Amino acid sequence: YPPCSSCTKIFLCFYVIERQLDAEELLLYYLRKKHILFLNFTFEFYNSVNYFHLSGTKYGCGVGGCGACTVMISAYDPVAKQIQHRPANSCLFPICSLHGAAVTTVEGVGSIKPRIHPIQERLAKCSGSQCGFCTPGMEPTCCQLRATGQCCLDEEERVCSSSTGGQVTIWSFILTLVKTTKSLSFPPQRMAQEQQRTTLIFHGKRTTWISPPSLKEHVDLKAKYPKAPLVVGNTRLKKNHHGAYHPIILHPVRIPEMHVVSSTNDVIGAACCLAQLRDILMEAVPKLAEEKTKIYRALLQHLRTLAGEQIRSMASLEGHIVIRGSTWDLNPILSVGKSVLNLASEDKQILLNDQFLAGSEHADLKAKEVIVSVLIPYSMKKNALSIVNPGMRILFSPGTDTIVDLSILYGGIGSTILSARKSCEKLIGRQWNDQILLHEACRLVLEEIFLPPSALGGKVEYRRTLLVSFLFRFYLEVLHGLNQMYPFRCAELSQEKMSALGMLQSGVAQGVQIYQLRCDVDPGDRSPQDPVGHPIMHQSGIKYTTGEAVYIDDIHPVGGELSLAVVTSIKAHAEIISIDAPEALQVPGVVDVVTARDVPGENGKDEQAYAEDKVVCVGQIICAVVAESLTQAKCGAEKVKIAYEDLEPILTIEANINFLTVNLKPSLDFPMIIYLTGELHMGGQEHFYLETNSVLVIPRVEDKEMDMYVSTQHATDVQEFVASALNVQYNKIMCHMKHVGGAFGGKITKPSLFAVIAAVAANKTRRPVRFALERNMDMEKTANASVAILQVGLMNDGRIRAADFQCYINGGCTKDESGSVIEYLVFKVDNAYNILNLRVTGHACKTNLPSNTAFQGFELPQAGLFGESCIVAVATQTGLPHEKVREINMYKGVKLTSFKEEFDAENLWKCWEECLDKSDYYSRKAMVEEFNTKNYWKKKGIAIIPMKFSVGFNTTYFHQVTSSKQFHIYIDGSVLVTHGGIELGQGIPPKMSQLSYCELKIPLSYIHLCETSTTTVPSDKYTTGSIGTEINARAVQDACQILWKHLDPIQRDNPNIYLLQISEAHKQSISLSATGYFKGYVTNMNWDTQKGHAFPYFLFGVACSEVEIDCLTGAHKSIRTDIVMDACFTINPAIDIGQIEGAFIQGVGLYTLEEIFFSPEGEQLTLGPDTYKIPAICDIPEQFCVYLLPNSCNLIAIYSSKVNTPNLPFASTPDAVAAARKKRGLPLDFTPNSPLTVERIRMACNDVFTEMVRLFLSLL
Ligand SMILES: Cc1cc2nc3c(=O)[nH]c(=O)nc-3n(C[C@H](O)[C@H](O)[C@H](O)COP(=O)(O)OP(=O)(O)OC[C@H]3O[C@@H](n4cnc5c(N)ncnc54)[C@H](O)[C@@H]3O)c2cc1C
Ligand code: FES
Repeated sequence: YPPCSSCTKIFLCFYVIERQLDAEELLLYYLRKKHILFLNFTFEFYNSVNYFHLSGTKYGCGVGGCGACTVMISAYDPVAKQIQHRPANSCLFPICSLHGAAVTTVEGVGSIKPRIHPIQERLAKCSGSQCGFCTPGMEPTCCQLRATGQCCLDEEERVCSSSTGGQVTIWSFILTLVKTTKSLSFPPQRMAQEQQRTTLIFHGKRTTWISPPSLKEHVDLKAKYPKAPLVVGNTRLKKNHHGAYHPIILHPVRIPEMHVVSSTNDVIGAACCLAQLRDILMEAVPKLAEEKTKIYRALLQHLRTLAGEQIRSMASLEGHIVIRGSTWDLNPILSVGKSVLNLASEDKQILLNDQFLAGSEHADLKAKEVIVSVLIPYSMKKNALSIVNPGMRILFSPGTDTIVDLSILYGGIGSTILSARKSCEKLIGRQWNDQILLHEACRLVLEEIFLPPSALGGKVEYRRTLLVSFLFRFYLEVLHGLNQMYPFRCAELSQEKMSALGMLQSGVAQGVQIYQLRCDVDPGDRSPQDPVGHPIMHQSGIKYTTGEAVYIDDIHPVGGELSLAVVTSIKAHAEIISIDAPEALQVPGVVDVVTARDVPGENGKDEQAYAEDKVVCVGQIICAVVAESLTQAKCGAEKVKIAYEDLEPILTIEANINFLTVNLKPSLDFPMIIYLTGELHMGGQEHFYLETNSVLVIPRVEDKEMDMYVSTQHATDVQEFVASALNVQYNKIMCHMKHVGGAFGGKITKPSLFAVIAAVAANKTRRPVRFALERNMDMEKTANASVAILQVGLMNDGRIRAADFQCYINGGCTKDESGSVIEYLVFKVDNAYNILNLRVTGHACKTNLPSNTAFQGFELPQAGLFGESCIVAVATQTGLPHEKVREINMYKGVKLTSFKEEFDAENLWKCWEECLDKSDYYSRKAMVEEFNTKNYWKKKGIAIIPMKFSVGFNTTYFHQVTSSKQFHIYIDGSVLVTHGGIELGQGIPPKMSQLSYCELKIPLSYIHLCETSTTTVPSDKYTTGSIGTEINARAVQDACQILWKHLDPIQRDNPNIYLLQISEAHKQSISLSATGYFKGYVTNMNWDTQKGHAFPYFLFGVACSEVEIDCLTGAHKSIRTDIVMDACFTINPAIDIGQIEGAFIQGVGLYTLEEIFFSPEGEQLTLGPDTYKIPAICDIPEQFCVYLLPNSCNLIAIYSSKVNTPNLPFASTPDAVAAARKKRGLPLDFTPNSPLTVERIRMACNDVFTEMVRLFLSLL
């Protein structure tokens, strides 16, 4: 099929031909692991047959929450009689449901051969990809937009609002790309022919899948198999090979009646997906009278943000209705809208009312009943009103405000959707425009909708407050509506009350990126041809966008390969009494069970790889099962029985040490005017890289050698751990890293343990072993939860004279990086502020939680928040503006830090001034204040925050690039560069190529960077601390300079003819190979002698952010962010600005969204994107501007550049909360514990409703 209207060439298309289809198989696993028969219809290869392994579609979470597995499904719609193209999460898509459909994976969008797609090309050229792991999942969605011609702004926003946060930079590019690329058309006709009218039956190993073509047959089948579930989108059932088991599954999507759509008589077929519903409603609303569309508009409001476009394209309306998820969005609205379910049997109907939603037996579906369609009536008269979840609707007697009918339903409060039916009945006959009605309604609702303190899901006080907050908003909405209808009878709402109406709306993000080219500043120093300082495309950019970059789990299966599944502890602290595995060994395909006893050498170091006698946290690996397939390995793991004897666990910092009583005594002994003391808690953060930890171990036949393909930031550690575990010398273990799909500090220490698990299994079985962690297991290791206790002494002019910080971190069950974490917390707590008398102590607390590790920014985000909290506290005490307190306390001129490191704060101030200017801070602050005086229920906050980030490590050899950074020139002129830096998405390869050109004038097209391997670069330290690129660049530069000396005489004789020079050098026996070395920056601060340098240099930056909060719900949105970063002459501005943007958004997640929860038994409850919220595209500031400070030079680093990644503290949300508290006359010295989530924002904006809830509870 022609893939694109702009292409004349025939492209790739394929059919999946599978004779023995497993009815339980899901598309993602099928695509990645199966050999698929390709019939290639390109002109060149017509009818050739190949076997492929489609690894461009990635596993990121397995639960529909990340989008890495997105494909486009094109299927025939029997009613519209046309092909529908929709994006889908292949990790949830049953393979059987694909009959007659076409699947477009990223390989079908485009590939390096024969041709990449324009979207892929532009995405790569605009540096719209970082680690590249999830990029292929984005393209099918873009293609679907183009294929269906849906390219309006609104469409893009909807699609993108659900994508993952780590990739926000990429998405902002896609927004532009989709708008500018030409339209695609996908193959329809062949698919249409596939629609046969016979019953399709697939017999799997344990499950039979039946897809009937007619309603009658479907009804008969349901009567015959009443327990069989109907699968439409499968987003709820999430059936897979290790999920719930159903012997029969019915799939009704081929039944024409179930696809009926009619916006004229408001009926929607049961098999219609939510995206279709949205499209139908969007089409209907403009054509109908406004009063008829209130329910439709309320539905549309939710359909814009309900899940992602992939889920909306798969999930059916009926699935949504039948499951009745308590937190799901549409049911309360459908219910108050008096929707009706049309059943297949005898034209029966069921009212979608509160009793149906509560699952009352008499109002529910019977086992044999099938819903064919749903009727969503138009809203009736003008005084009918429905708003968001919860759903509320009111009907007045004509011409009055006397209530004749009222429904109030709440989703997300109990296990089912709850109705305040009795309260509504009591209010019938009352006047709406009555002062005391609202108060009485709130009391009635609080009495009727009772939420016990131990309610599932927690946040009880917040949820109770929402009950009345939503009611208040509804009350005002209705009053406003009455005023519009009867302006003389019902007064206009005051401005204060008007500010409660409506929800926060976000537009599509727009960005500005400004940087200076070195050649513009100093043409003598840099020519325009010199790529250093230019936004050169990443070498792997095209491979990232086409899905051809090979990550660990994409490596083709090797001969004899085994899959590995682990058995983990379900106890936080216990003795292991026995491991019982005979049943596991009976499972077909299981080859062996591996335990600590099989480790010939050292079983881990600080942390045991396999638990021996004791477990110290939930999730600790106890043993591994290796089998011919992953399904068999998992099945075997389920059969292993572990007996435990419980020990007392310690789970919290508070239980670890009674610090509250010990440390809150005043300990500052400096003269001061004002003295402040306080306590601040900060939650941890998941790394949430898209590629989970993965390792493939291939034992070599000879000499006990092993190849380890591993996703790590620290290959030497992997080599050391595996060699020690197997009792072999390091030189027998070869680690290979090509692409790592994100890391953020989470792949420094942990991969070594996973590598030992797999290597011991491979050593025992003498077969290759693959171990790729599932998302939930990967998430069991987190960053640090910190607590600071602050004491600050200050003068009344806002100058902080002394501060005492006592910091505690929950280190988890082993030491891991806790020592460094504490050290860097102590180093960074001053941030950009010169506190003359500063005392910081740090304690790492050992608990029975999974071991915490380091995170990007290495404690600056934590330490920065402590410092900023002091600034805010001081500003509140003194009444000075926040920015003034910051300016008073910021380092000025050449100064010593508290650890006696000298530095010049000139560029910190330049960033500050530039950011004040670029963000138009003062006039926007005035506008924010004006907004806040006018709006009681919505508040804005604006804050400008400086940052001083210490680059690198306080240990010289950590910067050392030991031995070889190799640079080989071959006689055809091509160059192979190897170095120890591991590409994690931070763009090392393009920067290395840029500098190779700069040093040797070798054209970029001749330069190739190979994998990172311990065979070429031994004993390297980790790629982290924001300095990996820089130190490796130094060593490559050294190698280049050695070669330059070799080639210099020849270059003089043959200027400008590169190939001639190489051939001549070869003839003259001049070495064309060199090894570079960088000893590292001398950093050696000694804590005892208090001498030496801690860091090579500091990075400065300033960010100004503006947010808006909804005081009634706690919802918040970023309006604008301006960042000025002193990146000096960055080697590659496109890459560095992407890093700055990404790090900032990671900070948004840390400070406002991401929260890790544990059960009282120490089990982590937030183990996937469904329970742990990372930032999405809608969390990008609507205006996002990044400026690199002009005319700035760093004489220490290579090419006067600086590294950039740390996230800047994010303080505008507390500012908005403070504005709300000020207006309410509340104390401003509240502690904004982090993350400042919607719940904390709402509860901090104390008002009549929070008080009402507290009073109500006290009376119970
Ligand atoms: C990642 C993710 C994010 C989500 N986010 C949101 C969100 O933000 N807001 C929200 O409201 N929801 C959300 N959901 C829930 C989503 O709306 C539901 O999962 C979806 O609507 C279920 O539809 P389905 O077609 O996939 O159901 P399926 O899984 O196919 O089936 C669900 C059930 O419905 C029954 N059923 C289906 N059709 C019929 C019929 N015609 N007659 C009788 N019984 C029938 C089946 O027997 C089955 O038991 C999310 C889900 C996922 C996976
Ligand atoms: S892997 Fe399918 S959505 Fe994450």
